Amino acid sequence: MADALHDIDQGLDGIRTTYRQQLEAASTEQQLRDANAKILGKKGELTAVLKQMGSLAPEMRKQVGARVNALKTEVEQAFEQRLAALARAQREAELHARPFDLSLPGRVPVHHGHVHPIIQTRDELLSIFKDLGFVIAQGPEVELEENNFSKLAFPPDHPATDMQDSFWVSDGVLLRTHTSNMQIREMSTHKPPMAIVSAGVVYRRDDDVTHSPMFHQIEGFLVDENVTFAHLKGVLTAFAQRLYGADLKVRFRPSYFPFVEPGAEMDVACVFCRRPDGTHAGCRTCKGTGWMEVLGCGMIHPAVFENCGIDPERYTGFAFGLGIERVSMLRYGIPDIRLLFENDPRFLAQF
Ligand code: DAH
Repeated sequence: MADALHDIDQGLDGIRTTYRQQLEAASTEQQLRDANAKILGKKGELTAVLKQMGSLAPEMRKQVGARVNALKTEVEQAFEQRLAALARAQREAELHARPFDLSLPGRVPVHHGHVHPIIQTRDELLSIFKDLGFVIAQGPEVELEENNFSKLAFPPDHPATDMQDSFWVSDGVLLRTHTSNMQIREMSTHKPPMAIVSAGVVYRRDDDVTHSPMFHQIEGFLVDENVTFAHLKGVLTAFAQRLYGADLKVRFRPSYFPFVEPGAEMDVACVFCRRPDGTHAGCRTCKGTGWMEVLGCGMIHPAVFENCGIDPERYTGFAFGLGIERVSMLRYGIPDIRLLFENDPRFLAQF
């Protein structure tokens, strides 16, 4: 029996050796599979050994069975390993043979997203104020009536507080009509000195070529001891000149806003019909005046300081607010504000 077992072992060793050689030699998946079939297939060598098992004595059958199964497992594992190695080698060869050209255009046209012109303008305006030392703050669009109106010293019967002008959410709560609410929020929670800008969305019942019920503003304010109107003029002139050019002329006209005293509006020389010598031809955009209104501003009203718990005897400050759409429309020559909100990709792709 020992002899017979020895013969079978030798037979199995032979199968193993041939199989190993075939696996080594195989360079395609098909050759691998062929080598496998020669052993494990219906007419395979190992299958043949298994078929003979029936004629073996029972006590030998057990031992031979164990050896055959061990070889079978070995073959299967070797096969999987070689297959994986072959796939790896193939991939490696592909990668080295012809490098991918990642710059080739894809088959499907790719549509690029664009930063919206309003956001581009907003970021540019904010970055100018950041350079001037202002800190950026953010606040909510749904606001308490007192932060939007009463603490900003709007009298209770002011037309802006009217049902016609504001979107009311509930009693005492509305969609903010301007970013000036940020003055109240920041001055109530921080102590001077402070220089803050805040950009955001505001809402008003307004809808025509130059007005949208939803639009964007930037609010800024600076509070410290001994702040004067000269500081206001200096900062806002520097801002306008960064935006439109160092030789830009600006002017301040008296105006009224409940939360500032004195209040003013800043005009800049019309950037469309400005001549090199600083005079103006007069055009449609500036309605022939040579000036364009860009922002409202003024010295913060003592009542507003008091409403925020800041001592108006000790501190003074200036504030300003401007519409982002207007700057964007002037900059890109956009004639109708509604174009900015239709989100037509053909329009947006131009910026
Ligand atoms: N809140 C004003 C508006 O929406 C703009 C404004 C004017 C803001 C004067 C200010 C300011 O801070 O001082 O029309």
